[in-house]
Amino acid sequence: MKSNIALIGFMGTGKTVVGMALAKRLRWRLVEIDLVIEQIAGRSIPDIFLYDGEIHFRELEIEAIKMVSGGEKQVIACGGGAVLNTININRLKETSVIINLNASPEIILKRTAVAEGSRPLLNVENPAERIERLMEFRKPFYKRAADFTINTSNLNIDAVTDKIMGRLKKYEGFNL
Ligand code: S3P
Repeated sequence: MKSNIALIGFMGTGKTVVGMALAKRLRWRLVEIDLVIEQIAGRSIPDIFLYDGEIHFRELEIEAIKMVSGGEKQVIACGGGAVLNTININRLKETSVIINLNASPEIILKRTAVAEGSRPLLNVENPAERIERLMEFRKPFYKRAADFTINTSNLNIDAVTDKIMGRLKKYEGFNL
């Protein structure tokens, strides 16, 4: 029986906002892996990238997911790159239904532009190109890790949450 939900997917696909809505409906706890990482490191995500580098960030991400994945009744919102390390996915799979959120590159560009500066990987001269390239590279990782995928491009938060709830009800082996 799976007793958590893990949300994976590219930056700007709605993992945090959908995670909040989903946690509220289920009366579960929302755990944001990026926040856990910031707590462990004692600095912000942009500062971790700046002062310690991405490799150290990925190590902290592994540590954070390890800390959290053993719990239950949690909606776990992962960072967009968590899927890159198989160890994270294997740990999450043990206790969680893994839902992949995706969206078109154009929508992602728009959504991520709002919180400019908070995502070091998009802090480049041409974020549109960076998004396209990263998405292309990561696509198979998201696909392989996911139990199912929801496209959030043209849906509001409530509609995405409805869809997820509908899928979960039919999902065998899930302890709702
Ligand atoms: C990252 C996504 C970010 C954050 C970090 C790296 C990535 O999280 O973990 O900036 O590699 O895609 P969000 O997906 O919540 O923006």
